[in-house]
Amino acid sequence: MSTVVLAYSGGLDTSVAIRWIKEKYDLDVIALTIDVGNDRDLPAIAERARQIGAVKALIVDGRADFVRYFVWPALQAGAVYEGQYPLATALARPLIARLMVEVARAEGAVAVAHGCTGKGNDQVRFDVSINTLAPDLKIIAPVREWSMTRDNEIAYAAEQGIPISVTSASPYSVDQNLWGRSVECGILEDPWAEPPSDVYAWTVAPDGKTPQEPTYVEITFQNGIPVALNGEEVDGVTLIETLNKLAGEHGIGRIDHIENRLVGIKSREIYEAPSATILLAANQALESLTLSRDQARFKEIVAGEYARLIYNGQWYSALHQDLAAYVQSTQRFVSGVVRMKLYNGHSAVVGRKSEHSLYSHSLATYDTGDQFDHNAALGFIKLWGLPLTTQAQAQLLPSIGVEENLLKSSTIQLLDGKTK
Ligand code: ARG
Repeated sequence: MSTVVLAYSGGLDTSVAIRWIKEKYDLDVIALTIDVGNDRDLPAIAERARQIGAVKALIVDGRADFVRYFVWPALQAGAVYEGQYPLATALARPLIARLMVEVARAEGAVAVAHGCTGKGNDQVRFDVSINTLAPDLKIIAPVREWSMTRDNEIAYAAEQGIPISVTSASPYSVDQNLWGRSVECGILEDPWAEPPSDVYAWTVAPDGKTPQEPTYVEITFQNGIPVALNGEEVDGVTLIETLNKLAGEHGIGRIDHIENRLVGIKSREIYEAPSATILLAANQALESLTLSRDQARFKEIVAGEYARLIYNGQWYSALHQDLAAYVQSTQRFVSGVVRMKLYNGHSAVVGRKSEHSLYSHSLATYDTGDQFDHNAALGFIKLWGLPLTTQAQAQLLPSIGVEENLLKSSTIQLLDGKTK
């Protein structure tokens, strides 16, 4: 009998899928549950898969790989989609796809399957990644193929004797991993509606319930990657978990985003990303000390492109390899310590230091010890402004009366709708 490897979460969709695939495609299902920090009872999930009829149920701990090969590069890149979303869900997809392909190879499966709907980004990320890594594997997406509503699915499960723990009280669709928690559906589909408190699970409401005293934390970075908290070395998984908890208690990392999906839909998602919020700010703080003005400016462009390619499912692309090489190069001096203050829903960088700092006190100071050559400023200003003064004299000033003010004749008239 041929087999299919199904990415199994233990939820309603993928539970029903085990039986549905068997019926529709006559394939044996191997359930693969991947831990990317989703906080679930994994042995119980695997047991449920077997009960429903999976011939095998595998659990893979992908957390360390997720952090090392997906989260850290995205952090170093400063990847944030549309200025708001730190990309937790989007980053885990290419790892899950890779593991699905690896298990499919090891098990000699002819197909892989996932529980994505036909409306979202995740189907694109999975399918494009799988097609890129293993073009010969067939992809089955039951939820995209069957036309069942949630109630239909529950009825199907009952009829088939599929044991499901329908925690259907929750009206939300939730996806989570170490880098963040994504919540959509229910009342959140109304962009005017304030998210109810039950949307949040990782963050305390920053309205009086967070600690009265701020917490300070020192984060040590090596080449843009955080390696220690308050001077104590920790592995990546622990570091992210610790900060999620610490910042979550202070209500940090709530994001309310109307985003542009790849498939053309605008959707509203609530994110909780305490660690990501802090670490992205801390990495950038260290960059502000160690990158030149032009490096920082160019990296902002790269960050936008990097975020887009993660969001759009292009992880396994040559463009990604090229951008990643650039990003790694930018991080070679991004080592040092950032001191952050966590309080009442906000995190603030309050201190930063680095052996490779470009900050020069003797150049910056207004006090004694000033080494900056003030006289050189005059020559600089003359040359910097030379194109402007030249153009003003050749083109702008002759066209208006000498008495008339240049600002008045141009900008103000333009804003008033009068062109000259
Ligand atoms: N909108 C996010 C993305 O496309 C998250 C998608 C999954 N969200 C969810 N609540 N299941 O990356």
